[in-house]
Formats: sequence, structure tokens, C-alpha cells
Amino acid sequence: MATVLAFDVYGTLIDTHGVVTELEERLGTADKASLAPEFSRRWRDRQLEYSFRRGLMGAYVPFDQCTQEALEFTDRALQTRLSDVDKQHLMAVYSRLPAFPEVADALERLEAIGMRCVAFSNGTREAVEGLLGQAGIRGRFEDVISVDEVKRFKPDPAVYAHLRHRLDVAPGDTWLISSNPFDVIGARHAGLHATWVRRSLDAPFDPWGVEPDLTVAELGELAERLG
Ligand code: 2OP
Repeated sequence: MATVLAFDVYGTLIDTHGVVTELEERLGTADKASLAPEFSRRWRDRQLEYSFRRGLMGAYVPFDQCTQEALEFTDRALQTRLSDVDKQHLMAVYSRLPAFPEVADALERLEAIGMRCVAFSNGTREAVEGLLGQAGIRGRFEDVISVDEVKRFKPDPAVYAHLRHRLDVAPGDTWLISSNPFDVIGARHAGLHATWVRRSLDAPFDPWGVEPDLTVAELGELAERLG
């Protein structure tokens, strides 16, 4: 039975900080060059925090709503006074964020060595289909599996159980590939194998005593290691 690689999307395949250039153009402050990366980081962190909190509250909403509300919060927190038009524009940019540069080539190599690839995300199917399509990599995935199908967010064990159910393969043949440590730990906790894509050398892993099965710097290295 072929190994299935389930790729996290935001932060692993798709660069969530691809909004920085647009932010630089929209932030009307003198120090926008340093504020834009901070805005982007805080927006992403708050988006994830909202998904965790909504998960704990049992108050699921589509991930896009977490993104929208996190944008609103970040604008308030940093007092950047973005207009409604700016916010709409930034949300539109978020729906067509770029893939990391090595992704298309690495997916092709993984497919060539017989790996089955699926996308597995907090994003809704529609949002993920759109992102992968825009990035020109949708054809590399045999399916898109969204947490929206079970109305829970990562790292709820229910979403990894759902992934296994949808794939119908043995846990030992299913690998999560993610740059998000909370996702890697969630998958390992649910009995899956997991690779951590450590996209920044500064990125620490949570000291929970749960380690990834494999750590790579980017997806080209993953193709090399599995090939
Ligand atoms: C994703 O599920 C966690 O944002 C990440 O795509």
C-alpha cells in the first residue's frame, strides 16, 4: 500500500507572509517597512489563536472567519486604521497567497517516487482549492481534506481521525507534513507519523517530549530523504 503524505497548507505549502508587500502599501505609517512583517506575524498568530479558542468553546466557524476577525483585531491592536476597502483587499490577497518556491518541484518529485499526496487543512475545501489552483499545484494532490467536514480545528484528535477515515489507509502509512509544531504534535498524539518542515532555523519546537519522526528544512529535502 502506498504511503500517503497529508500536507498542511497555510505555512507549509503556502506562504502566509506573502501579504507583507501588500501590507507595506496599505499601512500609512513612516515605519511601515518594519510594521508590515510584525502585522503579518500577529495576524497569523491571532488567526490560529482564534481557531484554538473556538475549538475549545465548541463554537466552530469557517477558518476564513478566524482570518477576518484576526485581521480586524490586529488592526485595532496596532492602531493601523486600515479602511474597510484595505481589509477587503487584504482578505482577497490572502485567498491567493503564493506557494513557497520549492513546493511545485518537490511535489513533482514526490509523485514520481510513488507518494500519494493530499492537502489537509484548517481552511475550507473552497479556500484550499482556490489557493492551490492559483499556485498552480492543485493537480499534484489526489484530494483536499478540510477540517470543515467535521467542524473542528487542528489539533483536535477528531480531525486526524477524520483524515485517517477519509484516506482509508493504515496509520503507519499516513504521514502529516507540516511546518506548524502544534499540528505535528497533534498528528503524533493521534498515532500518525509526522514530518516537521522547519522553515526557519530560528523556529523552536514545543518542549512537550513529543518529537517529529522527521525534520526537514523544506520540501525539496523531504523528496530527497524519501527518494
Ligand atoms: C492549516 O491547517 C494549520 O493553518 C494551518 O492549513
